[in-house]
Amino acid sequence: MSATAEPETSAPEIPSAIDLREEFESSGVKDVLAELDRDLIGLAPVKKRIRETAALLLVERARKRMGLAHETPTLHMSFTGNPGTGKTTVALRMADLLHRLGYIRKGHLVSVTRDDLVGQYIGHTAPKTKEILKKAMGGVLFIDEAYYLYRPENERDYGQEAIEILLQVMENQRDDLVVILAGYSQRMERFFESNPGFRSRIAHHIDFPDYTDEELLEIARKMLDHQNYHLDQPATAALTQYIARRREQPHFANARSIRNALDRARLRQANRLFETSKGPLDATALSTISAEDITASRVFGIKTRSEAAHP
Ligand SMILES: Nc1ncnc2c1ncn2[C@@H]1O[C@H](COP(=O)(O)OP(=O)(O)OP(=O)(O)O)[C@@H](O)[C@H]1O
Ligand SMILES: [Mg+2]
Repeated sequence: MSATAEPETSAPEIPSAIDLREEFESSGVKDVLAELDRDLIGLAPVKKRIRETAALLLVERARKRMGLAHETPTLHMSFTGNPGTGKTTVALRMADLLHRLGYIRKGHLVSVTRDDLVGQYIGHTAPKTKEILKKAMGGVLFIDEAYYLYRPENERDYGQEAIEILLQVMENQRDDLVVILAGYSQRMERFFESNPGFRSRIAHHIDFPDYTDEELLEIARKMLDHQNYHLDQPATAALTQYIARRREQPHFANARSIRNALDRARLRQANRLFETSKGPLDATALSTISAEDITASRVFGIKTRSEAAHP
């Protein structure tokens, strides 16, 4: 045996320095953030918060490897914002990010609402909630419209039972499950007021602003581009008007309203092509949305608030 044989190593070696830039790249976090920037229009404050969270977690991880005092950070979050502002989409990216940083084992997202957690009869709620928690372990549990869990008007509401189980798991198994509560800002605020247990277990509150008209047009372009469709010049003008009108009408849901509008525009385009084309159609014809595919929408038949005020 040679005298230079390496001594047996028992504990993993503690590095003397850690290059955060290198960690940022090799963990894949850089890619997730770049994709987030590229795929999602607007959402500047949301993207900023996610970058900050990623930085915190990278530093935590480095500290842990260096044997510095460290505590698994609380990663439960709340996402507040109006319908269609990207909460579910961002939650999926967040799950991916946390997985790449090693904070969750699997990185999948289980999306639920009250009905998935709360039973109809005595004794149903606990097994239902536990079943969902089992599915979500190692990943992210996304509870949409979380305030419906709490129904103070019902004296014996089974929601309370689900809440208690959730709170316990959020505390005791926070190294293996991240819970994201999502919903409209004001209702979430009231929910936290009546459920301080949730508020104290949530470290990150991220607010999703409504999209501007310009952002919604960009989102539309992006969605169409993914599907190999495009708007011609008059159609772009029509969609710009559509967005301004749609915003003033009931049940406006930001990017979701845009997605639905584009689905209907494609339907009209298909019918227009079917009814008017005489010969073979080329790829451009098959992928062009024209103004009439947009302006046939019922949104153009309804007076806007300002038109109603000044007929
Ligand atoms: N910033 C964005 N850029 C591009 N597409 C977006 C953006 N935000 C949302 N979308 C798209 O809009 C649709 C609605 O988004 P999502 O479901 O994430 O919103 P949400 O806030 O969860 O809505 P809801 O309250 O209705 O559940 C999805 O198809 C999503 O891909
Ligand atoms: Mg959603």
